[in-house]
Amino acid sequence: SEFAVGIDLGGTNLKAALVHRDDGVVSSVQHPTEAATGPDRVVARIVETVEELIKEAPGSVVGVGIGSPGAINWERTTVSNPPNFPGWEHVNLRDELSEVAGERPVIVENDANVAALGSAYHGAGQPHDSFIMATLGTGVGGAIIYQNRMFRGSTGAAGEIGHMTIDYEGPVANSGVAGAIEAYAGQNFLTRHARYHLINYPDSKVYDLAGEDLGDLSPKVLFDAAEAGDTAARDIFAWVGHKLGCVLGSAVNLLDIRVIVVGGGVSAAGDYILDSAREALRRYVATALREGLRIEREEMGNEVGLLGAAQMIFAGDDAHVGD
Ligand code: BGC
Ligand code: NA
Repeated sequence: SEFAVGIDLGGTNLKAALVHRDDGVVSSVQHPTEAATGPDRVVARIVETVEELIKEAPGSVVGVGIGSPGAINWERTTVSNPPNFPGWEHVNLRDELSEVAGERPVIVENDANVAALGSAYHGAGQPHDSFIMATLGTGVGGAIIYQNRMFRGSTGAAGEIGHMTIDYEGPVANSGVAGAIEAYAGQNFLTRHARYHLINYPDSKVYDLAGEDLGDLSPKVLFDAAEAGDTAARDIFAWVGHKLGCVLGSAVNLLDIRVIVVGGGVSAAGDYILDSAREALRRYVATALREGLRIEREEMGNEVGLLGAAQMIFAGDDAHVGD
């Protein structure tokens, strides 16, 4: 039996799993990424995690796949400038991991691209030859699956929906782009917006859940409040959904790909975000391209990135999707 180690490096958590070719995730671990500690510490944590997982089945692990934020080079070895990772410029994760992987192949790919692969093989993307993936978390990621292939651009960095601007006078994202969707929908920006919004709703349930100073404010808390019927929390999600729909509309106008799959931790807010995203999407897609538009939520959660990362190994050194 064959296993691959799959890694999903997130801005908040590092997720890793031992994945069996047929049976999927057989064991998984999660650690805080602590991106603020800088590249050396974060890389050391990844290396340790991979080492532990390989030890579980040393004879049967055939490779290591890793999804990371940032621009990945064409050779799929090196991460460049992940916006929410202070101090990272260029990090050759393949070389760093080869220390523990030995002769086994190590493939590094953008985390949203990896999520799209996971979705294409195992999730909401399965029925679609072409779809756009958007991931909502600490950062906002994107990927383009076009006719069963990953569209990688000219250097490997294509599909960065998070960098697309909806307002050149807007807040500046950590990527350096003013009004980029990440500067609204990225977890920390969203939480910051929520704080301002809640000033006008002193009776909001969010205060009961996050404390009077909103010290425990998070997308999860907003979701719980929305579920309990809280208007302010629902408005915040509708606000971000509208912005998301706007940027996705531009993507559809550019690509003429009409299916969008939304994943990532914040997508757990589901229709509180996606209903307004769907409405906005129609509005910002030109009349001629509106037929067949749909936004689906990736229901697999964290697994999608782990399975996608392992899939890169099982499918060989080729970004091919499907059979
Ligand atoms: C990065 C992307 C990444 C996304 C999700 C963004 O900040 O620019 O490369 O895919 O976060 O982690
Ligand atoms: Na991407």
